[in-house]
Amino acid sequence: MAEVDPKTNGGAAPAVNGAAVTKPVYDPTAPAAIEVEHIVKKYGDFTAVDDVSFSVKEGEIFGLLGPNGAGKSTLIRMMTTLIPITSGKARIAGHDVVREPNAVRRLIGVIPQALTSDLDLTVEENMQIYAKLYDVPAKERARSIDELLRLVDLTKWRNAQTKTLSGGMRRRLEIARGLVHHPRIFFLDEPTTGLDPVSRVAVWEMLNNIQGQRRLTILLTTHYMDEADRLCDRVAIVDHGKLVALDAPMALKASVPGTNVIEVQFDNPPADWEQRLHTLDDVTSVQHEGAGMYRVLTGSGSRTTTELVEMAVTAGVSVKSLTVQNTTLDDVFVHYTGRQLRDELQKAYGFVMPPRPGMQP
Ligand SMILES: Nc1ncnc2c1ncn2[C@@H]1O[C@H](COP(=O)(O)OP(=O)(O)O)[C@@H](O)[C@H]1O
Ligand SMILES: [Mg+2]
Repeated sequence: MAEVDPKTNGGAAPAVNGAAVTKPVYDPTAPAAIEVEHIVKKYGDFTAVDDVSFSVKEGEIFGLLGPNGAGKSTLIRMMTTLIPITSGKARIAGHDVVREPNAVRRLIGVIPQALTSDLDLTVEENMQIYAKLYDVPAKERARSIDELLRLVDLTKWRNAQTKTLSGGMRRRLEIARGLVHHPRIFFLDEPTTGLDPVSRVAVWEMLNNIQGQRRLTILLTTHYMDEADRLCDRVAIVDHGKLVALDAPMALKASVPGTNVIEVQFDNPPADWEQRLHTLDDVTSVQHEGAGMYRVLTGSGSRTTTELVEMAVTAGVSVKSLTVQNTTLDDVFVHYTGRQLRDELQKAYGFVMPPRPGMQP
């Protein structure tokens, strides 16, 4: 890749809303690193990827967010020359993946969904094999492996057998291994699926560091909304093979009516409770989640909370729990697909209801 051009990006990282950022903010005017145009993948009569188009800028971290079976891995496999494209086009740094697959392969690093490091080899041996496969010159190999092991915090494990590593460490090893030939564009399929929360955060930090240091373009897939939100400059939501929304996480959240979500559980609410919640001021949607639990989207969390509690008191319905949080990508997903994609709730704050006259204990 060309040296970082200070005119476009890679200069001092600008601050976002006054907060320090750990990586350069991607530049929307940068050239496209990945271009996908009306891409389709059919398996017989079944359409796994259905007319998807998007483009990823150089230096961007781009996320494909969607549930299992959405078509994320199929998209990655087409972009990385692993499976044929039924129709449409994909270009990597200007190279057509069908006509110039070898040029594409030289430019990319790919981390598949399944863990693929060799358990019987040491960390360093796993790295060496890849470096040799990619013809990295011997001198460069040692330097690059040292640097990458430092980057993923595995230096002291370099002689450990891979089978002794935790899942998170193995993932980090595979990320380092995928970078040993200095790819410009890095594809990661569900990099943190199956990892514990601490390891997931470690992987995010590592990807941010690596992206900042090497000015990589990163495309990752995930079904974790918090991952897409924390890590990605832009997120494309995919569902049933179709791209249903694409924007920066903040813009996606802003595109959903309502700014807060109230998660509230009642004790034995009456049958028409969902409709009654709908009538409260500023409420834009109500979902009944079973067991007296409702998810209420509102333009004003505080006002709706007050009204909701008053309504419950008047009706003699007790509130078992209540939390108010900002809208998440989960709400964006529900908005665009009518279904829920939620792995973890991140409560902005929760509070215990103060006793009120008429409230059940
Ligand atoms: N080789 C295949 N033959 C038939 N169907 C497939 C094949 N690979 C994937 N699919 C189907 O395509 C859809 C998308 O799969 P996939 O891309 O793996 O989804 P994701 O990675 O988003 O979970 C799924 O319904 C899956 O069953
Ligand atoms: Mg997949």
